[in-house]
Amino acid sequence: MSHPRNVAVIVGSLRKDSASRKIAKEIAARAPTNLRFDFVEIGALPFYDQDLETATPPVEWTAFREKIAAADAVLFVTPEYNRSIPGAVKNAIDVGSRPYGQAPLSGKPAAVVSTSAGALGGFGANHHLRQTLVFLDMPTLMQPEAYIGNSLALFDENGQLVNEQTGQFLGKFAAAFADLIDRHAANAARKAA
Ligand code: FNR
Repeated sequence: MSHPRNVAVIVGSLRKDSASRKIAKEIAARAPTNLRFDFVEIGALPFYDQDLETATPPVEWTAFREKIAAADAVLFVTPEYNRSIPGAVKNAIDVGSRPYGQAPLSGKPAAVVSTSAGALGGFGANHHLRQTLVFLDMPTLMQPEAYIGNSLALFDENGQLVNEQTGQFLGKFAAAFADLIDRHAANAARKAA
């Protein structure tokens, strides 16, 4: 029986009808039952400003950092904006990367899903995000890679997924992520013993 694992979900699109958010929900619905998903909202985070990094930083930063700190892993599901990640995601990462030496994101296992209304599936965003996760020492799921193209056509007007092949892929992706999280926890326990 696997241990319960808490996964913080960061969705890169702020709009209400976001396909990325629907894809994130689909992953959560199809994931192994030991994974618990907490959607951590990033739209109201003030821009990162080092001058605000005092004993009393913005309350939104503190709440975000506490949610990330409480998670065992982080799932990013983000659209591609101009061949990179949306500014909101980069800002959330910057906020989660400080205070220096106590970054709540640091070292947590991660998985990246990029999405696009077009055919390319957000490859540019996916790999720009991975570059950032390297710096934060976040062991990131390698396979399967998830570039979800034609994202707007995947859901009907009720928000239901209409492409079961994609659904099955998202389930496999979630299972692989669960496995990565377990392996990371086992390694950490071995090192601590
Ligand atoms: C886009 N879109 C987009 N698509 C893409 O494949 N590559 C890109 O570089 C961009 N760039 C881009 C920039 C900006 C500012 C916007 C608003 C959009 C289109 C994008 O894939 C589409 O809007 C998706 O629907 C966004 O995902 P959500 O909001 O549905 O999750």
